[in-house]
Amino acid sequence: MKVLKTERMLLRLMTEEDSDNLLQIFSDSEAMRYYPSTKDLEETRSWIRWTSKNYKEHGIGLWIAELRETNEFVGQCGLIPQEIEGELEIEIGYLFVRKHWGKGLATEAADACKDYGFNQLGYNRLISTIDKNNEASKRVATRVGLHFEKEIFKWNKPIEVYSVNNKE
Ligand SMILES: CC(C)(COP(=O)(O)OP(=O)(O)OC[C@H]1O[C@@H](n2cnc3c(N)ncnc32)[C@H](O)[C@@H]1OP(=O)(O)O)[C@@H](O)C(=O)NCCC(=O)NCCS
Repeated sequence: MKVLKTERMLLRLMTEEDSDNLLQIFSDSEAMRYYPSTKDLEETRSWIRWTSKNYKEHGIGLWIAELRETNEFVGQCGLIPQEIEGELEIEIGYLFVRKHWGKGLATEAADACKDYGFNQLGYNRLISTIDKNNEASKRVATRVGLHFEKEIFKWNKPIEVYSVNNKE
């Protein structure tokens, strides 16, 4: 079940039992501000099924982040296959529970995912797709070493692609 360990967190596989955990993020309109809408229980279950499919088909997906000290659920972070302008790219994705924002957890988890993607899985390039106005997400991407590459039109809006190459 365990995928990665960071200084403060454990990243483990997402399971069907995680719907209540995930709803802490998905039912929060502030956390979902840059997504089309909040998600209800059925949409959350469908998100878990999509993640399980990514695990099976690509060996990667979003993982559950828990505090090592207390096992408390704090968010999700991982590597997601993403089609960008017809190419399959690997995205570092992160969504955390609002009460835990601002403690550096997303940066710590994203950095571990970057290291895992490059050094264990052998990817040469990783990206993040970020809403133009999502400054916190851009900040996390930048702190982890990604830089602005281009703007694309996806999900019916302008999206910024941040990227980093291995050995950069
Ligand atoms: C983006 C997100 C994961 C960041 O989580 P976090 O644990 O607070 O991230 P960190 O504490 O590691 O770092 C956040 C950084 O953004 C900065 N930040 C936060 N809100 C900001 C804002 N409105 N404008 C500018 N910077 C902001 C913080 O100051 C911090 O940078 P610093 O450490 O250099 O000061 C969190 O806000 C979240 O879950 N948002 C909802 C889901 C989402 O939008 N995910 C990204 C999809 S691309």
